[in-house]
Amino acid sequence: MTKKNYKIAVLPGDGTGPEVTAEAVKVMNASASIFGFKLEMQTFDWGGDRYLATGNVLPDDAVPTLKKFDAVLLGAIGHPKVKPGILEKGILLKLRFDLDQYINLRPVKLYPGVETPLKDKGPEHIDYVVVRENTGGIYTGVGGISMKGTPNEVAIQSMVYNRFQVERCLRYAFDLVCKRHTKSKPWKGLKESDIKEGKIGQLTLCGKTNVLTFVYDLWERAFYEIAKEYPQVKTDYCHVDATCMWMVKNPEWFDVIVTGNMFGDIITDLGAITQGGMGIAAGGNINPTGLSMFEPIGGSAPKYTGLGVINPLAAICSG
Ligand code: IPM
Ligand code: MN
Repeated sequence: MTKKNYKIAVLPGDGTGPEVTAEAVKVMNASASIFGFKLEMQTFDWGGDRYLATGNVLPDDAVPTLKKFDAVLLGAIGHPKVKPGILEKGILLKLRFDLDQYINLRPVKLYPGVETPLKDKGPEHIDYVVVRENTGGIYTGVGGISMKGTPNEVAIQSMVYNRFQVERCLRYAFDLVCKRHTKSKPWKGLKESDIKEGKIGQLTLCGKTNVLTFVYDLWERAFYEIAKEYPQVKTDYCHVDATCMWMVKNPEWFDVIVTGNMFGDIITDLGAITQGGMGIAAGGNINPTGLSMFEPIGGSAPKYTGLGVINPLAAICSG
């Protein structure tokens, strides 16, 4: 292996974020010395406490500062003394958007020896990846409130997607299936007949084409058009409500799931609990050609701060 030097920005954040991040940093440094690469880490105090002290969510040069690094490790964002939304939008979502981290990669994997609440399921059944679109949909914040405080108050928050966003996310997901499996080692959930047809793995589109007939129509059309370029990938479709059901009843039916931002947020908490809880679930906010940011998917869990009860494995795996 060539000796490499990586610059990592560490954002421990709020609540239990700093304590789990500290463990992740130890493991990363240990890996560096074992595998022969160098890590240069710099910690930033961005989060709730800094906001309460300064009134600033992020310094003005936050994004250009981060761009000088090879990757970002984030603990958690969310502070009980700050109104929900301010830090989440001002730090986490801002970084995801401004760094164009358009993929939120969330493996749902049950490790051996970890308990799952799913009856009769083991590591051989729970091993799939959710590709959550990470910069569009309801999260763009398009909408508003008018006539606030009156009986006629109207609130709108729109699910916004363009073809470009959908397509780049779908392509990432198709490519991921091809990275996970090979012709000689296909995904074990395939049928004999799929293998005969040359399939190596499966991509499930999770949508809601029966109700969200604009946005998920766009997703569905793009999905089947792009699928023609990937004859080795078996295509599958599930409405989001049914996806939740099958993730509990038959998680072994999934290889890679691709979905929009909001559905991806929801189903990955469900996925996390099936793999042993938020303390296990790691995720990556990926910009495939730029700067990516890795984080445990659980929140800051402020009431547990300092008690040493939060499992740092999610942070360690993110690291
Ligand atoms: C997540 C979190 C965030 C999200 C919040 C904290 C903004 O729930 O990373 O899943 O909704 O994306
Ligand atoms: Mn979430």
